[in-house]
Amino acid sequence: MKAAKFLAAVATIVAGLHSAPALAEQYRLGLITPPPHQWSKSAESLAKKIKDATEGRVDISIFPSGQLGSEAQMLQQLQTGAIDFAFLTLGEFANRDPNYGVFLAPYIVKDAAGAQKLLKGKVAEKLVAGLDKFALKGFGWGMAGMREIVMRGKVASAADLSGKKVRTVPFAQELFFWQQLGAAPTPMPLPALYDAFANGQVDGMQIDFEGTWNSKYYEHAGTILASNHMMFPMIAVGSARKWQGISEADRAVVEKLMAEELDAIVGAYSSIDNDYLEKLKSTDVPVVVADRAFFSAAVDAWYAEWRKKTPLLIELEAEAGAL
Ligand code: BEZ
Repeated sequence: MKAAKFLAAVATIVAGLHSAPALAEQYRLGLITPPPHQWSKSAESLAKKIKDATEGRVDISIFPSGQLGSEAQMLQQLQTGAIDFAFLTLGEFANRDPNYGVFLAPYIVKDAAGAQKLLKGKVAEKLVAGLDKFALKGFGWGMAGMREIVMRGKVASAADLSGKKVRTVPFAQELFFWQQLGAAPTPMPLPALYDAFANGQVDGMQIDFEGTWNSKYYEHAGTILASNHMMFPMIAVGSARKWQGISEADRAVVEKLMAEELDAIVGAYSSIDNDYLEKLKSTDVPVVVADRAFFSAAVDAWYAEWRKKTPLLIELEAEAGAL
């Protein structure tokens, strides 16, 4: 009798353990954009949706403006499981595997709507699938605005860019483009850019309209080149180590909400680019349109070089040609 009571008590405890709610866990998502940037706003809204949908079990705090470190440092922390999620540019990936830089092909698309289509293609799919080699869980693509050029002085032709120190992201593909123009590309993380431009450490930058307006880079500019010369993807990743620690049901919720938020980011950039361009046109800084012909020889040299180094570029050009 005593034994039966004991077994019943054990059964009750075991059943209780199984039905107990999983403990809420605190996670961290890092990114380099400042709080007003679309990526930061979307990350905040995503975190809230995930917390609600998982009843608080997956509670993600957002760390904008590089608070968790540079992208190189965040990548390392993701790999060891010291941080959980990040929205990253492709710089760190492209420098480990140049195929991750193919989207930087100059004039591969003409605007954000074209970029949106290319990020739904087979090349994009392959690159996300390959992220496990970096010990990451890949969620998919976001993007920022098309790349434009903001310079201190007057710029009427590509020759005016020669000899200038131009801030870039540390991408071999970007550096190569600027070298073809005779400029001195100067890799610099976004959070350091305002001061570097204001105090003359760089003569200009490769950036988007959104950042030019929100971070007030235009205040020190003499020309804004509306070039739309490159697209600028973002990749949403998680730490593969930490991902395995989340229950299967919650992982499914995070994946679904992440995919929806990324689609919303990518879909928003046509109007974000147009809206910020209009705002910039209302300033005293001249906005000069620069098309492919403006850079002609540099663009041709870029393709000659990177078709050899990254055969995936040829597949991407075929996709872009069929859009
Ligand atoms: C940049 O470094 O230029 C950048 C990074 C993230 C979003 C937008 C721009």
